[in-house]
This record gives sequence, structure tokens and C-alpha cells, in this order.
Amino acid sequence: MKVVRSRADFATARAALPQTVGLVPTMGALHAGHAALLRAARNECASVVATLFVNPMQFGPTEDLERYPRSFEADLALAEVEGADLVWAPGVHDVYARGAVEVSVSPGALGAVLEGAVRPTHFAGVLTVVAKFFSLVRPQHAYFGEKDYQQLALIRRMVDDLDLAVQVEGVATIREPDGLALSSRNVYLSSADRPRALGLSRALFAGRAAAGAGPNAVLEAAWSELADLDVDYLQLRAADLREAPPRGAARLLVAARVGGTRLIDNVAVEL
Ligand code: PAF
Repeated sequence: MKVVRSRADFATARAALPQTVGLVPTMGALHAGHAALLRAARNECASVVATLFVNPMQFGPTEDLERYPRSFEADLALAEVEGADLVWAPGVHDVYARGAVEVSVSPGALGAVLEGAVRPTHFAGVLTVVAKFFSLVRPQHAYFGEKDYQQLALIRRMVDDLDLAVQVEGVATIREPDGLALSSRNVYLSSADRPRALGLSRALFAGRAAAGAGPNAVLEAAWSELADLDVDYLQLRAADLREAPPRGAARLLVAARVGGTRLIDNVAVEL
């Protein structure tokens, strides 16, 4: 496995990779969820590139950019074990040569709901950096977790709307045995918060179990598990995140604060 930092070194290493190239973009702090992305890429592509880059553009001014977990050596070890061929860990100036961009990707209406309603500049930052990595890495396939379901939906929409030549692959959420969805931010949870954080997955599973009785029953069952959490939203939507259908494939999404930690999760629901 090769590890590079600068944009120039990345370009040289990228040029030597056999096709097809699978990209796993990450912000580091890798866990079993990222391992699943790397494994999917390894199964399907001749070359696997992982990026480790904590993207300042997707953090709001009061968010956790400074304290976002960083574990570079452990990340390299995990990437190596999962078969990455090339890891690119650029500095901010390798990605944002002028310090910031003036032209960016606008997420449109889907970027203003759910997470976008709480984090208004987040998805422009995500889509802009993902578009940059698509241009710089030129992958045939790119892998994203369903844990960040709205992010995945917006990346698919960007690729569609802008005719980008990459196949977006969604990979199922990995959970702790008790149901908690893996997230790099789980390290923020205190030992008192950790059991309370289970409220999110419990709510989603309760909602999913009530799906046969219709959309209202789903929401009611889910709310009953969220009583002692500070909930940002609980919403039932179509699989593409448009308005929920009365029947068929839907998605139940939740965001809540547990102590000082903001967590999100979602599941598929068949109405
Ligand atoms: O999901 C993430 O870790 C990030 O949002 C991504 C896609 C790597 C862009 O910075």
C-alpha cells in the first residue's frame, strides 16, 4: 500500500494504478463501517484508493472541525488490512489550492431538508469536496455508507444531474451488536451517554416493525423510543428522500443529541 500527501505525489501514484479504480472517500477515524466500504471496493475493482481528509468546508462555524477525531496511524493500518492500494491524505491546500472555493456545488432542495435544515452549509461542502475527489482521482466506482443516507442520495443526484462518469455504490450501515450505528463521532459519547444513544436505533427498529400498520404507526412507534432524547428530526420519506409514499419502499431517518453529541441514523422501511 502506498501513502501519499501532496497533490503532485498523488497524481504520479494514481497514474500507475490499473483500471478499474474504486474510491473510498473518508475523513479518517476509520472504523468497521469504513472497512465495509473498502472491502466492497476491493471485491469489485482492480485498484482501491482511499482518501483521508477532514474537509473544513462541510463543518459549520460552531461545529466540531477542531476536535473531530484523528487517528492517522490506525487509519493506515486498517486501510492496509482491507486491501487499499493507495491512500491519499492531502493537506487543506492540496485540496483547496486558493484556501477556499468561490464556485461550489449547490445541493438544491434536497440539501435544505433533514440534515440540511440543521446544518445549512454542510451539503455544499460535502458535494464540492466529493466532486473534487472525483475529478482528482477519476474513479470508475465510488463507495459511500448508507449511514449518511442523505449524503448518499445527494451524491447520486449530483452524479446524475452533472453527468459525472462514476458509479456510486451505497454500502449498508454497520452496527454494534446492541444496534448503535458505527460513527466516528461515537467516541464523543460518555459512558452515561452510550446507553442513551441506543434510543436512535431502537426508535428506527420499532418504526420498521410497525410498517405493516402504515406511516402514522411507524412514526408513533419510533417516537415512543425517543422520549428522553433531544430530537432534531424524525421523518419518514421515500427511498429517494422525496415525500413518503403511502405504501412501498420508504426510509425512516432520525437525528438527536445525546449529551453533547449529535447522532444520525436511518433504516429502510417497507410500508
Ligand atoms: O462521509 C464522509 O466521511 C464525508 O462526508 C466525505 C464523503 C468523505 C466527504 O468529506
